[in-house]
Amino acid sequence: MRYFLLIFGVLVVLVVLIAGRRGDLTRNRPLQIFPDMKRQLKLRPQTANSFFVSGLSSQLPPPGTIARSEPLNVGGQAVYPFEDLPVNTGRNPGTTNFVELNPLPVTAQLLERGQQRYGIYCTPCHGATGEGKGITQKIGAMAVVANLHDKRIVELPDGDLFNTISHGKNLMGAYAPQIALEDRWAVVAYLRALQLSRLGAVDDLSPEVRATLK
Ligand code: HEC
Repeated sequence: MRYFLLIFGVLVVLVVLIAGRRGDLTRNRPLQIFPDMKRQLKLRPQTANSFFVSGLSSQLPPPGTIARSEPLNVGGQAVYPFEDLPVNTGRNPGTTNFVELNPLPVTAQLLERGQQRYGIYCTPCHGATGEGKGITQKIGAMAVVANLHDKRIVELPDGDLFNTISHGKNLMGAYAPQIALEDRWAVVAYLRALQLSRLGAVDDLSPEVRATLK
């Protein structure tokens, strides 16, 4: 009985010592049994030190890294990714209005690139013809996918399509992380060609071809 009381007393004192002051504020360094790299040696910016040869804590970026200020080459034009330009945002600078037309010159090369990117990134849901009957609908992974030949979508400005591709819309995810800036405009151009393929009128045909129609 004596031993029990002794051990019990020691336990009570230990528990109060260890747990009793939990939550107290202290200016001392906390005890960390598993520090998880929360505390590491570091150099504060712009302070003198002997770690780097130059004696400065701030260093130039290592060779081969791309600084934020480095321009992208978009259609042969130097574009900074943070500039408020139609090619970056799909909107008229300083406004939230979408640009009506693709800011890149639409060439055969751009269309071909767009067709290829569309085939990779868009056909799984929208289908090769853009009707929204891709493989994801066949296997039941996506119930409703937009039909890109809808009158409403045909009438959207190019900048809106670019915005949807870049940032997604409702169930559709954002593709800016996967499709490069210039390529997203290429997809917009190809999408227009795809839509036009359904909008041809008899008058677009040459008289000779029209004569052969039944
Ligand atoms: C994972 C499936 C999926 C993929 C891949 C996908 N989309 Fe979509 N997309 C959707 C769905 C679903 C909608 C309908 C969104 C809604 O609810 O309005 C949609 C809507 C759209 C719209 C209509 C937006 C509007 O304003 O209503 C456009 C344009 C579009 N997609 C273009 C594309 C292009 C171009 C690509 C390829 C870069 C692409 N989508 C890839 C699923 C997808």
